[in-house]
Amino acid sequence: MKINVLFSPANVDELYFAGKTTVVIDVLRATSTIITALQNGAREIIPVATVEFAVKVSGGMFGGLTLLGGERNTKKIEGFALGNSPFEYTSEIVSGKSIIFYTTNGTKAIVKAKFSETILICSFLNVSAVAKKLIELNNDVEILCSGRSNVFSLEDVICSGKLVSEISKQNKNIELMDSALASIALNEKLGNNIYKMMKESEHGKILVENGFEKDIKYCSQIDVTSAVPINQGNVLKLMPETDEKSSDKPEL
Ligand code: MLT
Repeated sequence: MKINVLFSPANVDELYFAGKTTVVIDVLRATSTIITALQNGAREIIPVATVEFAVKVSGGMFGGLTLLGGERNTKKIEGFALGNSPFEYTSEIVSGKSIIFYTTNGTKAIVKAKFSETILICSFLNVSAVAKKLIELNNDVEILCSGRSNVFSLEDVICSGKLVSEISKQNKNIELMDSALASIALNEKLGNNIYKMMKESEHGKILVENGFEKDIKYCSQIDVTSAVPINQGNVLKLMPETDEKSSDKPEL
């Protein structure tokens, strides 16, 4: 199994992912929110790359049980039901719903990876469960860090380092590209206090300024769920063995 980490979506195009197994990470906050929404019973997440497309698909499709969610500059978008805080995606609100989801970086990265055969969604909340699934699949892996505005984000790369370390612990038969070795080194250096690291990161500072400090705390929890979102066509659902009835819900 060969593992490569892409520090930002900028240097590859959509076709790069054709047929691959790709893990998308946007710890603050898109992938943490997707995991939480599905864990809390959302039927599916439909990631989209533009607000206009989100609005277009929200009318009439998916049996009328849709919610529009996401953010622009970390804030809820006018006319959307939900923002991008995982605390908004409670079971009361999302259970049984299809959520059309737009975020500035995270959903754009997922859409960019759309030609992958398999897309898994990862954050600190489910990192060991994703590692376990990748070991089972035993394919070469691309880990796509969403970053911010096409540049490196510390928290995404540290999460990728944790993921690669988990896989290496259990599977000795892997080949790590330089990017994977670098992400392990960063995790060893800065991954001991995830909350502090994220609060001091560029994106963390913006979230604190905008009143979302508790989201950073929430997203810093490690392995609170075994929920692994996976692509089915153009939508994301929980993998069958970790459906919404499982008892290991992340604390909201
Ligand atoms: C993104 O996709 O850029 C984010 O998840 C931003 C955020 O809401 O924190």
